[in-house]
Amino acid sequence: MDPLLTAPRPEALLGSALLERIAEELTTHGFSIQADALPHALGQELLADLHQLQPGELRAAGIGRGHQHLLDQRIRGDQIHWIGPERAAGRRWLTWVEALRLAINRRLLLGIESFQSHYSHYPVGQFYSRHLDAFVGKSNRILSLVTYLNPNWQADHGGELVIFRGADDDQGIVVEPRMGTTVLFLSEEFPHEVRITHRDRYAIAGWFDRRGRGPLD
Ligand code: OGA
Ligand code: MN
Repeated sequence: MDPLLTAPRPEALLGSALLERIAEELTTHGFSIQADALPHALGQELLADLHQLQPGELRAAGIGRGHQHLLDQRIRGDQIHWIGPERAAGRRWLTWVEALRLAINRRLLLGIESFQSHYSHYPVGQFYSRHLDAFVGKSNRILSLVTYLNPNWQADHGGELVIFRGADDDQGIVVEPRMGTTVLFLSEEFPHEVRITHRDRYAIAGWFDRRGRGPLD
């Protein structure tokens, strides 16, 4: 078996202090925002992997679904590429996420069984309107994860993630998409949006699911 895919020991990959903070915040608030959670070397490797994708490997989200695709383009302007274990960067990312999954399951008993994620690139001027990643009873998505791959991000570059505490919140919690910052939130409970970006904005968005399925289901 590929050594990169053997079961990781969560504390060795993420550190027990970080894992405790994530578990504590998810339990208390339903979301957790951690600066520098993603190891620096892994962030660099993922960004390099994203940059070596060929034209056409990053595609408008929802492509191939006809009418739905046109709808998607009005609410989101990112281009995506699903991450698999084909390349070393993807394997290392999935190993890190697997450690996180094991640690979260151990502490929170969420029963998450699988994970899917994609790179996303928001060109200048793009955004993602307020949305939920999962609708109650309609999806197996339990926990959303976003991690950012933007070195030297500045406040005036825009592109903030805004997480709203439920349907009635219109102020939200604002997160700048800085390299290494990692955000987790319960998929059914937190509407969120990406504000217009004034720089190319790179991220990975992923979801922990209740049962195994393919990346494009
Ligand atoms: C998403 C999403 C947030 C971000 O892809 O569903 O909400 O900050 N992304 O990129
Ligand atoms: Mn989302």
